[in-house]
Amino acid sequence: MKVFLTGGSGMVGRNVIEAARAAQHDMIAPGSRDLDLTDRAATFAAIAEIQPDIVIHAAGRVGGIQANIANPVGFLVDNLDMGMNVVLAARAANVPRVLNLGSSCMYPHAAPNPLKEELVLTGALEPTNEGYALAKVATSRLCDYVSRSEQGLSYKTLIPCNLYGLHDKFDPNVSHLVPAIIRKVHEAKQNGDGTVEIWGDGLARREFMFSGDLADVIWECVERFDDVPSLMNVGIGRDYTINEYYQAAAEVIGWSGEFVHDVTKPVGMKQKLVSNERLTSFGWTPETSLKDGLAKTYEHFLAVTKQQRV
Ligand SMILES: NC(=O)c1ccc[n+]([C@@H]2O[C@H](COP(=O)([O-])OP(=O)(O)OC[C@H]3O[C@@H](n4cnc5c(N)ncnc54)[C@H](OP(=O)(O)O)[C@@H]3O)[C@@H](O)[C@H]2O)c1
Repeated sequence: MKVFLTGGSGMVGRNVIEAARAAQHDMIAPGSRDLDLTDRAATFAAIAEIQPDIVIHAAGRVGGIQANIANPVGFLVDNLDMGMNVVLAARAANVPRVLNLGSSCMYPHAAPNPLKEELVLTGALEPTNEGYALAKVATSRLCDYVSRSEQGLSYKTLIPCNLYGLHDKFDPNVSHLVPAIIRKVHEAKQNGDGTVEIWGDGLARREFMFSGDLADVIWECVERFDDVPSLMNVGIGRDYTINEYYQAAAEVIGWSGEFVHDVTKPVGMKQKLVSNERLTSFGWTPETSLKDGLAKTYEHFLAVTKQQRV
């Protein structure tokens, strides 16, 4: 198939490109410098010229809580523009399939866990990333409207849980939980520190999927597109406490100090686990254990930091 991938330089996109299954397809993945997806005319022209069999939309303005709070306008407008432009350009070029990537931020912040797909748009969103989430919800609904109103076009959305893995961001200013833990524990080992501090009591629960597994399910969806529900969570089916992520990372890194908790620090939501019922019915399960995923990510971190020193 001729596959047009957006966000090919990002964590998700790079894993999609590097997956073994990518070699079976003709991949076109322009970087943001070659194609700015917020530029409507350029996006329409590129997709019309390429005429792909499928678009995988994995580009986005992605960031942590601080970045979202600091710039809600940017997170709403850029993600909305990218989503609208990509989906409408695909429709205009009569591209039969779009696989759009959403986010678990699309769920109401008070929704019960595990988060089922039908709960989207049933309540208020988490205020700290509302702009980003609104853009994700709108793009997903647009995919749905196009599928319902245009014969022969089928546009679907995957909602991945949190991700970690190769090509993650390890810079403490922008990193998410798992790469931040890896860096902290690695530095404690290097400096010979006996303790590592965890914000809060460490009992909040989080679900993280290895990015290589997300790439695998994306290819499974590309290849069995008709079997994919119009909206489908992608998760590992279980969550771990923050303490468990730290303990697993310490074992992988080989650091045997103690964790101390600063309970005056904020911890965020108590739990965020997506339901994997639809994913299980679709017939896919992730294969990377937390230990293996952390080991691969740590190896990647060491390689990246070594490269930066050279
Ligand atoms: N990371 C997670 O934990 C997670 C979890 C759930 C869902 N997702 C979703 O998965 C998708 C990819 O996330 P990621 O983690 O791979 O993010 P990422 O590493 O930050 O990558 C974002 C990608 O989007 C591209 N991009 C940004 N603005 C663009 C623009 N104006 N025009 C063209 N391309 C642009 C970036 O290109 P440049 O590098 O050239 O700027 C980069 O390739 C996003 O939709 C995100 O919401 C991610």
